[in-house]
Amino acid sequence: MEATRERAWETLTSYTKSTALLRHALAVEASTRSYAHRFGEDEELWGITALLHDFDYEIHPTLDKHPQDGAPILREEGYPEQVIEAVLSHAEHLGLPRDTSLKKTLFACDELSGFVHACGLVRPTGLEGLEPKSVKKKLKQPSFAAGVHRDEVYAGAELIGVELDEHIANVVEALQPIAKELGLPASADA
Ligand SMILES: [Fe+2]
Ligand SMILES: [Fe+2]
Repeated sequence: MEATRERAWETLTSYTKSTALLRHALAVEASTRSYAHRFGEDEELWGITALLHDFDYEIHPTLDKHPQDGAPILREEGYPEQVIEAVLSHAEHLGLPRDTSLKKTLFACDELSGFVHACGLVRPTGLEGLEPKSVKKKLKQPSFAAGVHRDEVYAGAELIGVELDEHIANVVEALQPIAKELGLPASADA
């Protein structure tokens, strides 16, 4: 089986119906892909991995199943082991080593993409003009997007060796072109 974005989207949407989860997958995909581009890595492969990282969350919503019980499904569907291993490594509770650039980047983009998305949702202009400074301020408000693990946001930036401000700016920029798909106001020039 050739792992294509189209195929990954099919896999994702056959297991995931929730709009919120699909938007999360798209947001993490866009961020991870942008880093693949930045790092000169395989954008398609990194994008597919990000798109699929929570593909089984709807059928396995608990940590005794997600994402470990999703892995055999991906294997069955013929995804490369590199993708499957990276998907498994995003889960803190599995304690797997993040020993590749893809694993590190997926981890770094997972929580922050969700957080930046949440920041965009409460602004009339969405992601337009969203500065790292205001994202960092919101990170310090525990009640805002309370489900986002702050420690993982900070650890992720450190893991990929990118300053938090720059990491935030990169993610904001990566999400802007898909603002509409994320349910955010599209920027005027998009
Ligand atoms: Fe997950
Ligand atoms: Fe996720």
